[in-house]
Amino acid sequence: MEKREYTDDYPDKTLYIPGPTEVREDVIEAMCQPMFGHRMDRMTDLYTTIVEDTKAFLGTENDVIVLTASGTEFMESAILNLVDEDVLVTTCGSFSERQADVAERLGKNVDRLEYEWGKAVKPEDVREALEDPDADYDVVTCVMNESSTGVRNPIEDVGDVVADYPDTYFVVDAVSALGGDYVDIDAHGVDVIFTSVQKAFAMPPGLAVCVVSEDAYEREVAKDSASWYGGFQRSIDYYERKGQTHSTPAIPVMLAYRQQMKHMLSEGHRERSERHREMAEYTREWAREHFEMFPEAGYESQTVSCIENTRGIDVAGTIDDVSERYDMVFSNGYGSALGEKTFRIGHMGEHDVESIRALTDAIEDIAGL
Ligand SMILES: Cc1ncc(COP(=O)(O)O)c(C=O)c1O
Repeated sequence: MEKREYTDDYPDKTLYIPGPTEVREDVIEAMCQPMFGHRMDRMTDLYTTIVEDTKAFLGTENDVIVLTASGTEFMESAILNLVDEDVLVTTCGSFSERQADVAERLGKNVDRLEYEWGKAVKPEDVREALEDPDADYDVVTCVMNESSTGVRNPIEDVGDVVADYPDTYFVVDAVSALGGDYVDIDAHGVDVIFTSVQKAFAMPPGLAVCVVSEDAYEREVAKDSASWYGGFQRSIDYYERKGQTHSTPAIPVMLAYRQQMKHMLSEGHRERSERHREMAEYTREWAREHFEMFPEAGYESQTVSCIENTRGIDVAGTIDDVSERYDMVFSNGYGSALGEKTFRIGHMGEHDVESIRALTDAIEDIAGL
């Protein structure tokens, strides 16, 4: 790849993509501070504040790890930390398929419970797979919000099923959902749930958050091998002993995290989810007036709407023109299969119905709806 010189004159664009999303001004400003060391007391103040605030926001008694990484790190480390041999990966789109790829790359025996893109995972199918007399799964994985298709999987019901199998752990990829779609983590046997902060947490990218049950921690301790960097035990023990991270974190992003968590705590988990529900309902209504929703009815995501391009508009051209004329950016469909067949509106983080309406007005104008 040739160098394409970075210039300093890019126009600001309002982001309606499924992450990164808009970040508040005071959260961006919080990053601009003189640097300090990751073994100083100030770091303990910062890290314990963001970890405890995250537990309070999510309403969980489980352990919280905030790691310098993107969310994919926990796709990998959850497998390394919990799976000896067999894992059942539910797939219904690109990110759940990535989870299967990751586990295969790690040399695990992967059984896929596959759904057509746009369809949701069904808890009764998971039970059937777990009931198979030959099945011996260490882990079942499920993506909460399949960002490629706009499907919200019923992870609460899947978790209730997996909870009936005490030797099987339940791992949830909640990237693009957590913080914008309420989930009672402790009530549904969720052993591991992770997200990236650039999605519904509305922070600058650079950190991944993982909530780990005591059972999952104990499972890793009992295992012969585990991830070093993404090991649950290492992060959790380091936190208990020192209130810090095991290696140098992205300190500026943690400063931003602390500032944004204040906003999230003052809004509240359920209230934040309710605001996202309103945005999702508005977007679906608009989509059904002009197009159709792509996901199976009843499983539409609360943070990203995937809209079927039933009118055959020029999706790429519309995105370019909306960006050029209105400085707003939304997404095409995922990959070559869905690129022009669907388009996606990310309504996550700090947006509200008014800001989503500004985008749909711009799309109507450009596409002549
Ligand atoms: C559902 C889902 N899982 C995983 C990822 C990967 O997250 P990251 O890019 O933070 O590694 C994404 C990114 O969009 C996602 O939407």
